[in-house]
Amino acid sequence: MKVIKSVDSLQNELKYKVGFVIGFVPTMGYLHQGHISLIEQCVHENDITIVSIFVNPKQFNDSDDLKNYPRNIRKDVALLEKSGVDLVFIPPVKEIYPDSEEEYFSFGHLEEIMEGKYRPGHFNGVAQVVSRLFKIVKPSKAYFGLKDFQQLAIIKKLVQILDMHIDIIPCPIVREKDGLAMSSRNVLLKNEERKSASRISQTLFESRNFAKNHSVEETKNWVVNTVNKDPNLEVEYFEIVDDTELLQIQNWDDKTQSVGCIAVKTGNVRLIDNILF
Ligand code: PAJ
Repeated sequence: MKVIKSVDSLQNELKYKVGFVIGFVPTMGYLHQGHISLIEQCVHENDITIVSIFVNPKQFNDSDDLKNYPRNIRKDVALLEKSGVDLVFIPPVKEIYPDSEEEYFSFGHLEEIMEGKYRPGHFNGVAQVVSRLFKIVKPSKAYFGLKDFQQLAIIKKLVQILDMHIDIIPCPIVREKDGLAMSSRNVLLKNEERKSASRISQTLFESRNFAKNHSVEETKNWVVNTVNKDPNLEVEYFEIVDDTELLQIQNWDDKTQSVGCIAVKTGNVRLIDNILF
């Protein structure tokens, strides 16, 4: 496995890989089993797997969040080595953003709700880094977790906007034993917050049953109230939307597939999760 830090050396490596099918998994590091599941699928489905580790400053709308974001490159590289990755790309900020020019993408409704509403500028930051990484790596397939459901919708739209022929492959959410969706930020939870956090996924799972004989509105209220009963948890939003346009659904039979997306604050940490109804 090669560890590469500059765009030039990555492109130099890729010169010799003509005709190989390249799979790509972009990450911000501090890798856990959620990331590894994407990487394993990528290794399985492609000739060459490239993983990037880049804590993208442009997608952090909160400077403390960027400062506190967990990092452990040595541990990450060791994990990737074991997972059969061919190239790890770990660029410094100036390799990805050589000048101060900002790019703006317009995602319409997709960026106006949920994460887009509560984290202004976040998706434009994600789009800037992912479009640059796609241009550098030129993958055939790129793997994204369903954990970040709205991000996945944004990335699908991004490749349409840029007319890039990259298959965006959605991968299932990987959870801890108690149901909490794995996240690099989970390590920032204090003991009590970590215990409380399991209530988020448990409530989402139970809401599927609740929804069988309650309306969309009743289900939304029930989820918010049930999570908020824990004094360590504060729901920022819970929305039930269709799985492509992310439009709010009014009735269960509005659309074939709906998804409930939640963001919860516990202490200084913000957690997101979702469930298909
Ligand atoms: P990061 O949070 O490191 O996540 C990298 C990828 O792993 C994303 O596609 C994310 O959805 C997926 N992932 C994270 N936790 C997961 C879990 N529990 N189960 C399944 N997949 C999971 O998402 C980002 O980084 C960044 O926004 C990025 C796309 C790299 C752009 O900077």
